[in-house]
Amino acid sequence: MSVHWQIRPEGPEDADGVAALNDDGFGPGRFAKSAYRLREGVAPEDGLGFVATGEGGVLLGSVRFWPIVVGGEPSLLLGPLAVKSELRGRGIGIALMKTGIDAAKTAGFKTILLVGDESYYARAGFARLPAERVRFPGPVDKTRVLGLALQPGALDTLSGSIGRARIDEPVAACGAPLG
Ligand SMILES: CC(C)(COP(=O)(O)OP(=O)(O)OC[C@H]1O[C@@H](n2cnc3c(N)ncnc32)[C@H](O)[C@@H]1OP(=O)(O)O)[C@@H](O)C(=O)NCCC(=O)NCCS
Repeated sequence: MSVHWQIRPEGPEDADGVAALNDDGFGPGRFAKSAYRLREGVAPEDGLGFVATGEGGVLLGSVRFWPIVVGGEPSLLLGPLAVKSELRGRGIGIALMKTGIDAAKTAGFKTILLVGDESYYARAGFARLPAERVRFPGPVDKTRVLGLALQPGALDTLSGSIGRARIDEPVAACGAPLG
């Protein structure tokens, strides 16, 4: 079955649809992951959210990026990236990711990090970061910590603790203060 789809910037009207895609792709357990500590109280980076749409404008996939600092240096956390389950394997995920990466580069970001499957994200140039180079605010599987340099050598000097680049709205998980 051939499906026509296209990619466009995410707009405010997409919020519920994107939440549904992420629920479908990751389930409610995603909020407990360390990467989500970096998203609490922070809006996704403006201008770097993209959605894939199909017939009638229906949402088929979404990618967002969050602003982070790594050892004081601005960077981005890629994700969530999710594609509607019945439409996977058509290149929508890679196209969303590459569109977002290009926009991040144009916006002047030098690096992107994520926690995910290396064999998938390597298709967009991500590679595993040396163990212990960066520290997430909670446990992560170090073999899944990946990075992409948007400028030559930009990953080589990136190291240290990862934190939120800003706080838009103070939200604490389980009442705990956020560092
Ligand atoms: C991961 C995801 C976004 C991929 O979207 P997609 O539109 O199917 O991806 P693409 O069509 O661009 O790429 C498909 C290819 O990637 C491979 N692939 C998909 N997920 C993969 C993974 N987790 N690890 C390794 N390879 C993967 C597929 O096998 C396929 O390979 P092929 O081209 O050799 O057939 C989608 O499967 C999804 O939403 N999954 C649930 C949420 C999720 O796990 N997000 C990523 C977190 S690591």
